[in-house]
Amino acid sequence: MLFGRTNVNKFLVEEQRRNPALAGDFSMLVSDIVRSCKTIAQSVSRGALAGVLGDAGSDNVQGEAQKKLDVLANDSFLHHCEWGGHLAALASEEMDEILPIPATHPRGAYLLVFDPLDGSSNIDVNLSVGSIFSILRCRGDIKNPTEADFLQPGTQQVAAGYAIYGPATMLVLSVGNGVHGFTLDREIGEFLLTHPDLKVAPATREFAINTSNERFWEPPVRRYVDECLAGKTGERGKDFNMRWIASMVAEVHRILMRGGVFMYPRDTKDPSKPGRLRLLYEANPMAMIIEQAGGRASTGRQDILQLQPESLHQRVPVILGSREEVERLVRYHSDYD
Ligand code: AHG
Ligand code: MN
Ligand code: MN
Ligand code: MN
Repeated sequence: MLFGRTNVNKFLVEEQRRNPALAGDFSMLVSDIVRSCKTIAQSVSRGALAGVLGDAGSDNVQGEAQKKLDVLANDSFLHHCEWGGHLAALASEEMDEILPIPATHPRGAYLLVFDPLDGSSNIDVNLSVGSIFSILRCRGDIKNPTEADFLQPGTQQVAAGYAIYGPATMLVLSVGNGVHGFTLDREIGEFLLTHPDLKVAPATREFAINTSNERFWEPPVRRYVDECLAGKTGERGKDFNMRWIASMVAEVHRILMRGGVFMYPRDTKDPSKPGRLRLLYEANPMAMIIEQAGGRASTGRQDILQLQPESLHQRVPVILGSREEVERLVRYHSDYD
């Protein structure tokens, strides 16, 4: 097994040979993202020893208190990805506006949008967190990239993926040809292909939702969860299990490994927010991963990947995972509308 496993660079070069539409420096761009994730994995794993826990003392554009690691992880992406000449601009949860590549570096034809650290509330309690990214083509003038260039439906994503900093660090990636998982071998500093061609089980007995929001849910979600809770003797005729990790990366990863459905649905908690999760750097990349693995991703009313984004930090309802459960939830929404 000494040279047995494919590393992520070899995987990317082979994917690029297979699909000539992945222009020029695509594999180099993903390699830069991979390097960012390795650096973040190192900081996360050293935790208090590296002095990276706690608040940064600032807020992001959405009014969330930034953790030190939110800021550090954002800086890691910028440091590793902005110099290579592959990108026209970047955007992230932790930056108010898009960042065109500074004039000190060459520009390329891709756009990168990312959630540098997902599951921030888990940082200080030493639980799983992750990073999420999405790669788009810049269809406008790369000399003058604008926010409008980022507002592409999820179907236009060239690649999407996430890193999960859990008991092992893993990278899960789709370049439009299935979903593949790599595990970080810290001894050689490489992500090695350990989970080729991941598939989401079409049926499940496991759901994930933050039930503290129950009083704000819409009737279709309430009906779905009530039926799960009724168990064997109810409508569904089987018992369900429930999990909530408070990190979308960790929930999606569990669903890829053993099936399940994840919901952060539309609710009435704050009428100015149609959902909790952000379309461009949470919902879209995760929807691509789930659908490439044979699952489904919907707002309850529309396929997430079909949504036309209206702004950089736009929030949307998210229901994703095992196909049969998401389809059931979509049916329940249409029954009530
Ligand atoms: P982030 O840490 O990037 O701001 O995202 C957190 C998100 C998502 O990962 C998770 O599913 C959800 O917020 C958790 O929400 P609750 O605090 O309501 O559990
Ligand atoms: Mn946040
Ligand atoms: Mn997030
Ligand atoms: Mn985040």
